[in-house]
Amino acid sequence: MAPVVSGFSKLSKADKIKWLTEHHFDNDTHATDTLITYWNSNEQLQQLHDEFTENTISNYYLPFSVAPNFLINGERYTLPMAIEESSVVAAASKAAKFWQNRSGFKAEVLSTTKVGQVHFMYTGNFEKLHQFFAAVRPKLLSSVAPITKNMEKRGGGVLEIELRDKTTEIDHYYQLHCTFETVDAMGANFINSCLEQFAKTLVYEAKVYDHFSSSEKDIEIIMSILSNYVPHCLVRASVSCAIEDLPNTQQLSSLQYAEKFMRAVHIAEVEPYRAVTHNKGIMNGIDAIVLATGNDFRAIEAGAHAYAARDGKYKSLTHAKIKEGQFIFSIEIPLALGTVGGLTSLHPLVKLALQLLGKPSAKKLMEITAVAGLAQNFAALNSLITTGIQQGHMKMHLMNILNQFEATENEKEQLIAYFRTNTVTHSEVVTQIEKLRT
Ligand code: MEV
Repeated sequence: MAPVVSGFSKLSKADKIKWLTEHHFDNDTHATDTLITYWNSNEQLQQLHDEFTENTISNYYLPFSVAPNFLINGERYTLPMAIEESSVVAAASKAAKFWQNRSGFKAEVLSTTKVGQVHFMYTGNFEKLHQFFAAVRPKLLSSVAPITKNMEKRGGGVLEIELRDKTTEIDHYYQLHCTFETVDAMGANFINSCLEQFAKTLVYEAKVYDHFSSSEKDIEIIMSILSNYVPHCLVRASVSCAIEDLPNTQQLSSLQYAEKFMRAVHIAEVEPYRAVTHNKGIMNGIDAIVLATGNDFRAIEAGAHAYAARDGKYKSLTHAKIKEGQFIFSIEIPLALGTVGGLTSLHPLVKLALQLLGKPSAKKLMEITAVAGLAQNFAALNSLITTGIQQGHMKMHLMNILNQFEATENEKEQLIAYFRTNTVTHSEVVTQIEKLRT
């Protein structure tokens, strides 16, 4: 077991690695070598990455890929995707290609507001608190003026502050439930700064409020924090085509395909075990764009899954129907994304990704990202209801297995050719490698 270490964050990068090598890797220099292999030779760039977070000892690479041919609201995009799962980008590209010949994707932002809350305890009666809140509301707003000044210039700011009585859930528990517009910024720092100022002002004003008793003056702030539940920062994307333009094979007519597809979506609307996997597939596309554009994928994940469970039952984020001979497939998902602030102007690949997308506004990025989720889900369901998922997955995974066995370029070439017409399974790849090598 490694010993307790104090002051670790103050050690130099080299000393941190030395400590790790000593206490976790039996002084084996292989660990050091691996960490150093991933350092960037451009020292300035490496320093930038080192300073993103604490205790950085190396870089963790993810493939940065692109999926071309996305026709969205009549404009063509090449999507940047940061993801390690082998089949995701191929699936996105395939879906994009399929829908570009069927008028592409439509997308629209339905709402853009975000929420933050000051959670506090107050022991007096609600009526008095309500009167206090009405009196102090203008002071709450003016106290954040220095923080909101720039955001207001860009068309955002604090939209609403509500006092909420939560005492039926927890004794003495109240909230300032605040709504914000943050325009092109994700806005986490802006919202949290406003909330912390609201909390300070609330406490101070309660102390000097004449109509409160001494115990009522003691408002206790529990915490002030934005919510990653953003059901009012919502985007909708859809595709549609005539039923006869859907795939038509020997096994399934276009109509049968549409019906089977709808049934697969319907199952994810009623069966949570399936819904979670169905939505995970959607998030394959969403997270890849979110990461590539320097946004917070944990926030997006949390918000999306909470939205999927908003009716008290976890359900599919996509929906499919047939209407007047048209197959319609759509997604509705909350996406609190930003295209300014955070990593967007710092991380060179994030800057490049945003440039690739034509420097979109946050709204446009919401549309593009929702489309990536819909495309991913279309590709997954298309495989699931026809060939099954493994055919495509294993084809893409072949390279990983070959690399695992340190196949040479020549071996790779021969095996890729072999598996063009043979089913990829782990054991068959091993058999074929062994055959080549003996
Ligand atoms: C795998 O990463 C994602 C899928 O499981 C999604 C789905 O089942 O819909 C293929």
